[in-house]
Amino acid sequence: MSMAVMKKQLITSFLRKFKILHLADKTRFYIQKYKNNKANKKFKAEHPEVKLPPDYLIYESFQLNYHKYYVQSKEAARKLVRHFSKHIDLKDKKILDWGCGPGRIIRHFPEIVGNGCSYYGTDYNVRSINWCSHNLKEISFNKNTLEASLPYDDNFFDVIYGLSIFTHLSEEMHNHWYDELYRVLKPQGIMLLTTQGDTYKPKMTPVELDLYNKGQLVVRGKVKEGHRIFSAFQPKRFMETLFSNATIVDHIELSAVGKWYPQDKWIIKK
Ligand SMILES: C[S@@+](CC[C@H](N)C(=O)[O-])C[C@H]1O[C@@H](n2cnc3c(N)ncnc32)[C@H](O)[C@@H]1O
Repeated sequence: MSMAVMKKQLITSFLRKFKILHLADKTRFYIQKYKNNKANKKFKAEHPEVKLPPDYLIYESFQLNYHKYYVQSKEAARKLVRHFSKHIDLKDKKILDWGCGPGRIIRHFPEIVGNGCSYYGTDYNVRSINWCSHNLKEISFNKNTLEASLPYDDNFFDVIYGLSIFTHLSEEMHNHWYDELYRVLKPQGIMLLTTQGDTYKPKMTPVELDLYNKGQLVVRGKVKEGHRIFSAFQPKRFMETLFSNATIVDHIELSAVGKWYPQDKWIIKK
């Protein structure tokens, strides 16, 4: 762990302990808004047709940069579709984005996939779901609760994905949500979930690393569960145990590039 990371860790654990991390995060939001102001204005002027969610929703779920939220995420959606296509024929399929936030990825699916598929998004953030329901009409949205409960029938979806959702949940929620997602996935269906795996080791404290290396989930809580500042790190052994009733068809790990720490992708088949 580098000195800079250690210093950052010390500050955030202090803020977390004294329950002022949410306040610090709000301040960070305004800093990001200011930093991205010029680029975001330019994006808006050049792309008046693109519907943009309120800034805080973009920040809370991703990064407050419209180009990244819209253009880069369209490319990310394409990549995701390529991953799915290795394991399933995307024709007349039902696809769910669990923890869809303000629609960053699922909004591109009707154009990218088409092919008679139908699209669903669910999230526990009421403001994200309200925005999505009003603005992304080709997709069916649902607001769920933090607890694992979805309004869909058993074996309903062919494809489910959740990008950076487990990364904000406790161990109990990992177990309950995995069971619930598995319930609504069809036999032979595909599920892709992302986690903070070995790539994130340099960001962990020695105590966290010790737990992680023993195969235990590492949780940084003491803040609202599911929020971006609630963090969890998932070692391989933990994920393999979680997925023990399914077939793991792919586990993709990428190295960090500068400040970008890619999450692991786990693809399983029911
Ligand atoms: C880091 S954001 C990622 C959003 C989106 N998947 C993306 O990649 O742009 C995490 C998302 O998980 C959602 N979330 C957290 N806990 C949830 C839960 N129990 N059920 C559904 N969504 C949840 C948050 O509201 C937020 O939209």
